[in-house]
Amino acid sequence: MSSATRALSPEFKQLIETCPKAELHIHIEGSLEPEMIFALAKRNQVSLPYASVESLKAAYAFEDLQSFLDIYYAGASVLLKHQDFYDMAYAYLKKAHAQGVVHAEIFFDPQTHTARGVAMQVVIEGLSRALVDAGRDFKISANLILCFLRHLDEDSALQTLQEALPYRQHFIGVGLDSSEIGHPPEKFKNVFEKARALGLHCVAHAGEEAPPAYIWSALQTLYAQRIDHGVQAMKDPALMDYLARTRTPLTVCPLSNVRLCVFAQMEDHPIKKMLDLGLCVMINSDDPAYFGGYINENYLQVAQSLSLSPADIEQLAKCSFEASFMPEALKRHWLAEVDRVFA
Ligand code: HPA
Ligand code: ZN
Repeated sequence: MSSATRALSPEFKQLIETCPKAELHIHIEGSLEPEMIFALAKRNQVSLPYASVESLKAAYAFEDLQSFLDIYYAGASVLLKHQDFYDMAYAYLKKAHAQGVVHAEIFFDPQTHTARGVAMQVVIEGLSRALVDAGRDFKISANLILCFLRHLDEDSALQTLQEALPYRQHFIGVGLDSSEIGHPPEKFKNVFEKARALGLHCVAHAGEEAPPAYIWSALQTLYAQRIDHGVQAMKDPALMDYLARTRTPLTVCPLSNVRLCVFAQMEDHPIKKMLDLGLCVMINSDDPAYFGGYINENYLQVAQSLSLSPADIEQLAKCSFEASFMPEALKRHWLAEVDRVFA
């Protein structure tokens, strides 16, 4: 048996599972499990284009990002009330806590909901109340990042930011997600400029499927502080050099990349090379209900397929805190905790 396929030792597996980590790339709508989709559809009398949980799950065979997004937006159609957003976010935080996540920065897509007549207040206050309650119940810290849908135009993004301003205290930043190819970062230059002026953090999905030029644009026109995915940076040595020198974080999502056919198999994933080249990369789940696992399933599959060492896991966990927007004192606390676990 090659080393790449050798099972992880029980001790290493436990170390991975219990190590404190931050999750920085999770779409809350992507944490909606099929069972919850059906339960909410029933509660809200929404009809779904799938007859059962099983037939919905059978549709989770994606060819690319767009084939996933079509199903992801259909799943999100069951979210109507404050309690729905609360239940979804609380369930994610409970699960994340059980997997050693001590801090989460969570994306949400308001346009997916406001376009269906759901009020911005319902979305943000439902999510926000779940973050407060999970913080109390699990001692997990969490923040929200409002994402603009890049397949829509910039005016819609500007209007969304405006509508969200009465709830400004409930989110720490803005992001950019949805269909990447054909919707480059510079399309959203003005709305990101406005968000930055409001003191919001700026991140953007770039280089998930699209070429390195999208990553350069996210950095140079949106002033993105982190790049979400960014795996296509591997095709541009000058960009890799820039990312390593500036320690610009890439929030990598390995199971997502394999499920969306960005890489044929986990053995082909570049995260180990990125780590070895000095990039600030960490492991995240993206849309855990759709891609076959939460953060630990991602860590375990990468560790096994790429023969990661405990030192690699330590580095990934440390990068997750380094790249987070948490207060510096809390960052130092968690970095010291990771040191303690690996000592
Ligand atoms: N990429 C772009 N948009 C998304 C994703 C993703 O991986 N997940 C949810 N929305
Ligand atoms: Zn994503």
